[in-house]
Amino acid sequence: MKSSTLPAPAGTGHPALEVEGLCVDLRTPSGTVRAVNGVAFQVRKGRTLALLGESGCGKSMTALSIVGLLDPTAEVTGGTVKVSGTDVLRLGQAGRRKLAGPALSIVFQDALTALNPVQPVGRQLAEPFRIHRGMSRRHAREKAVELMTRVGIPEPRLRARAYPHQFSGGMRQRLLIAMAVALDPDVLIADEPTTALDVTVQAQIMRLLRDLQTERDMALVLITHDLAVVAQRADDVVVMYAGNVVETGPVAQVFSRPRHPYTKGLLDSVPEHAVRGRPLPAVPGSPPQLSAVPPGCVFQARCPLAQERCARERPQLVSAGASRSAACHFSEELDRG
Ligand SMILES: Nc1ncnc2c1ncn2[C@@H]1O[C@H](COP(=O)(O)OP(=O)(O)OP(=O)(O)O)[C@@H](O)[C@H]1O
Ligand code: SF4
Ligand SMILES: [Mg+2]
Repeated sequence: MKSSTLPAPAGTGHPALEVEGLCVDLRTPSGTVRAVNGVAFQVRKGRTLALLGESGCGKSMTALSIVGLLDPTAEVTGGTVKVSGTDVLRLGQAGRRKLAGPALSIVFQDALTALNPVQPVGRQLAEPFRIHRGMSRRHAREKAVELMTRVGIPEPRLRARAYPHQFSGGMRQRLLIAMAVALDPDVLIADEPTTALDVTVQAQIMRLLRDLQTERDMALVLITHDLAVVAQRADDVVVMYAGNVVETGPVAQVFSRPRHPYTKGLLDSVPEHAVRGRPLPAVPGSPPQLSAVPPGCVFQARCPLAQERCARERPQLVSAGASRSAACHFSEELDRG
């Protein structure tokens, strides 16, 4: 089975987010390279999908292309992204702006750069209500204070007049999350939302995200290096390597019986898969340069199971059991081993 016909994950209703065959090309001084190659996944409302993989494997590029915030040097060159059934890649700028907030939202790692440094936070939080809902200044301000209360900012009425730099990192991240969920999006993408924070605050922010997701029935795409967070928080996982999806499926199954040597390598290199707050440990070696991705299997240079066929033939992402898929010629042997 090809990636474009992956089985839908368990759950009810239509997927809130459907990504199929997504390709992103990057213009570099030495030519165009493929940063995201045929990525496909689906997330239903109320469910969490984790994007997992080492630094540079294309997780943020995937996220940014979904929300339409790619750098001018990067371009979506193939695939579809449907948000609640609407193909967002076919929309113009105006159409996308309309969806940003009510349908689709993103939280980044660095709240200080994502917030406007010269505007009081209350006004920034009120903006979506004024722009999208046409509320009066006063009504929008009340909604902003309500949101600040909801995300746990103490003395919200007073703090609404403060500027981003007057908040701690954790409080700023709460503000960013508040902005992202203000208009009740169907889909929230969180790109390493806690990486910049200390471990205790990370746990608080993850709890806030979980509670808001449950309250608002959002589909969540969670990008993280933290395998423990994936294990605890995600329903499904997409493992990426050098811009390609190498394995997908329900987290419990993928983590207990990985069907791709890369996933197995990631899991094996962490004792009990569970070191909270740490980045992914290294699988020996490093991913290929995007300009030098080999023909055949993208993982061959680091794969303990590689054989001659792997250098010749690129493995397709094929069904590896109910709701699961893997891109490895010898996936079944891995399972038996
Ligand atoms: N603005 C850019 N210009 C040129 N290349 C870029 C740019 N942003 C990312 N890249 C390259 O695109 C590839 C994918 O990057 P991406 O940021 O999606 O990785 P990632 O999986 O999010 O990594 P990390 O875990 O470090 O955040 C990498 O090889 C990276 O060097
Ligand atoms: S196809 Fe070959 S090189 Fe690639 S992951 Fe499987 S065994 Fe390893
Ligand atoms: Mg990233």
